[in-house]
Amino acid sequence: MSDLSNARRTDYTSDGIDAATLIGTPWAQISHWVSEAIAVAETTPGMAEPTAVSVATVDADGAPNVRVVLARFLDDRGPGFVSSLHSIKAAEIAANARIAMGYAWPGLFRAIRFRGQAERIGADELETYWRTRPYGSQIAASASLQSHPISSRAELEEQFASWAARYPDDGTETAVPMPEDFCGWRLVPDEVEFWAGRPSRLHDRIVCTRVGSGTLDDAASWAITRRQP
Ligand SMILES: Cc1cc2nc3c(=O)[nH]c(=O)nc-3n(C[C@H](O)[C@H](O)[C@H](O)COP(=O)(O)O)c2cc1C
Repeated sequence: MSDLSNARRTDYTSDGIDAATLIGTPWAQISHWVSEAIAVAETTPGMAEPTAVSVATVDADGAPNVRVVLARFLDDRGPGFVSSLHSIKAAEIAANARIAMGYAWPGLFRAIRFRGQAERIGADELETYWRTRPYGSQIAASASLQSHPISSRAELEEQFASWAARYPDDGTETAVPMPEDFCGWRLVPDEVEFWAGRPSRLHDRIVCTRVGSGTLDDAASWAITRRQP
């Protein structure tokens, strides 16, 4: 697998995007593309997790870090995700709240990229989300000290079993209390880029740059430019 030069080359044939076809506001365009990705994924077996995003942070030395999470929140303030305060990303965001995030839907020849400031998701919003998690996912989040080492899979499963014994599944959404280290962040963007793959790699890139303090749904708060592919 060391030589990828013969990997199949795909010509990208999206409808493209340009400042004139940007639907209304950055938010309208984001919600349109994310909704389409979710709808297409429902009927496309190979296209799993259309809400998966890469989240980039930097560590204390300024070295970049990246990992995939699911965007569990999305509104005109920006996309958000949940995680653990024990995680490496939590430590990195606490030291430097500037983060970046990217959706990529290669099958649709589309991507959206965000850069901005991470803000903690409020307790009520977080609790509402927590209650939608299946029982097993609530136990796993409670039992795992995310990003910390553990000696074996068996020890991890013992931790899971011990939390499950402590909070048995009573069939209600409040069977497992939200752990104190459960947390979430929203990326409040100051730059959003829409990328649409076009034939011969002559792609479209439309960039929205914050020029005001409004939300993604406030057209006056965003300047639109086209970048070369
Ligand atoms: C498809 C997918 C979805 C994921 N969703 C989440 C998530 O929503 N939250 C999370 O903390 N980690 C999620 N992970 C795991 C992260 O990629 C990562 O391993 C974990 O958050 C620890 O990252 P850190 O050590 O940099 O903090 C997901 C991984 C994949 C591949």
